[in-house]
This record gives sequence, C-alpha cells and structure tokens, in this order.
Amino acid sequence: MTPEWYTASAPGKFVVLGEHSVVYGKPAVVLATNRRITCSVRRSHRNSINGFYLDFSKQPHINYLTRDTSYCLDILTTSEVPSGAGMGSSAALSAAVAMALDAERGGGLDERGFVEEAYNAELSAQGTGSPMDASACVHGGGVAINIPDEPNELWTISRGNRTWRVTDIDVPELSFVIGNTGVKAPTGPQVDKVRRYFSRNGFAGEIIEEMGSVTLEGFKALKRGDSELLGRLMTNDHKLLSILGVSCKELNKLVNAALPYSYGAKLTGSGGGGCMVALTDSPEKVAEVIKSRGGTPYIMKSGVPGLRMELNPASGTPMEIPTDEA
Ligand code: MEV
Repeated sequence: MTPEWYTASAPGKFVVLGEHSVVYGKPAVVLATNRRITCSVRRSHRNSINGFYLDFSKQPHINYLTRDTSYCLDILTTSEVPSGAGMGSSAALSAAVAMALDAERGGGLDERGFVEEAYNAELSAQGTGSPMDASACVHGGGVAINIPDEPNELWTISRGNRTWRVTDIDVPELSFVIGNTGVKAPTGPQVDKVRRYFSRNGFAGEIIEEMGSVTLEGFKALKRGDSELLGRLMTNDHKLLSILGVSCKELNKLVNAALPYSYGAKLTGSGGGGCMVALTDSPEKVAEVIKSRGGTPYIMKSGVPGLRMELNPASGTPMEIPTDEA
C-alpha cells in the first residue's frame, strides 16, 4: 500500500511593533498574514524534499524536527511567503512540518507543543531569537508579547534569563501593505549585530528600552483603533531600528515612498533587507508606489487561521527552503 500523505499549513507573519527589542524581553505586536506555507510528509524508502535528495546538513529546521524519526520521508513544501524577507517563512515552515509529522505519527501535540517545536527548530538553525514568530505562525490572528496585565494568555516561554508571555489579541480592522525589497537577509546575523551593539554600548540598551515604550503605547493605540497615533509610533520605531543598524537603503526607500500615503511605515522582521510595512487607508496607492520603487507589494488580510491540517498533498510551486531566514 502506498503510504498516506499528511499535510499541514501555517501562515507567515508581520511585526507591527517590537522586532529586535522582543529578543530582550520587551513587548511586541505581530499579526499572521494571508500568505501560507504548506507542507506534506509521508513515509518513504528514501529521504526527499520536493522530489530531490534531502540533505539534512543543508536543512537545519527539518533536521531538528525529524530528530526522532527512524524512517525515511518524502517531504513536499509550497509557499506563498517569500523566504529571507522577515515574513516568518522559517517559523511557518517549521510549524507546518511539525504538524504534518505529528499527524503521521498519530498526533499528540497541542498548540503550545507546536510552538516549542517550531521555536526550537528556529533556534537550532539561527542560534538566537524569541518565540514571537513561532507563536504568530502557530496561533494565527494576532498575538502580543509581554504586554503587562493583558488577558487571554496563550503560553509563556522562557530561555535563559528571558521570558515571553504570549497573549491572543483581537485583530484590528486596519489596513496594512507590505513591501518586499527583494534583498534577502537572514535573521541570525541581524540579531547578532544588535546583540554586539547592545553588549558594547549602553546607548543601544536605551534604544531598546525606548522601543519597548513605543510598542506599549502603540499597542494601546491599536486596541483603540487610533491609526494616526499607531502610524506615528511605527515610523518612530523605524527610526529606532535604523539607529540599531538594521535598516538599509532599500528599506528606507520603500518606507519613504509609502509615508505620504500612510499613517506610518517601518521595516518589519529582522531588517537588513526583506520587508517594510505601511499602515494606510489607501492600500492600492501604497502598493503602486512600492512597485514604482522596485519593491513587491502585498496587501495584507488579517484575522487569518493559524497552523492547521489540510486535506490534499501540497501542490504548486515548490518552496525554496530557508536555511536561516526570517
Ligand atoms: C524576526 O522576525 C524578529 C526578531 O525580533 C527576531 C526574533 O524575535 O526572533 C528580529
């Protein structure tokens, strides 16, 4: 009998406020996107990925996730989430592989278990970071991290001396446009860059504190639906991220192009390339200006489902598998 396929999908994500400072335990707000990664697994007589030989040394996420698997697997992946672009491709891939594998083994993991699997897979690939991306890609909708007194706790995750309390948030009726610079920028080096700055320079610590305050204020504005204030705070956050050295000229070009038609705009994810996001009432116009400056726009639909099983094996354009990517 031909072994059965088990298929799962997970959404990508974008950070409204709080990337990088969240690594230091500061607050963050992140929404899942309507672009998803789908992954299928089945038992096989050899290891393959998208029809090719699966070299585990080149696939650190999959290497981690299959650590207890004693038989060979065929894996299929397709993606609508650009890789290396700050949209959570590695967390979404890890979550989808974890769920498909869990189903193949008869099930047992809950939402928190999938977050741990996806987060550990990311840590094994990039060595550093917070459980923010994994939480958003598994849970879907929107999540907030380390917002004091916020109800609806989903889980709390600790590593070393850092703790991240993750809460479910009502996804706001706001319109966001993402602009992809097309410059690939893995997460690990950007997080390391900030860490080096932080360990050498007290000023970096002050910037991270300020980012925490901006995010808290932004979270309150988001809850009230105050786009004017939220947008201003997003643009402030972009300036603070730029001082930390994680913006680049391509990101600044798209942020500046979007700003005249937006409440605010900033890089989203780990930076150094990848994507920016704008909060706007004119998504078509912002998409047009992003395109005219050489970026790829994605108009975001929020309130999307998180990690879930799918009925059919993944089909479509095979995904370029991230090795260490946002
Ligand atoms: C990457 O999407 C977000 C960072 O804050 C890293 C992390 O939280 O793991 C830069």
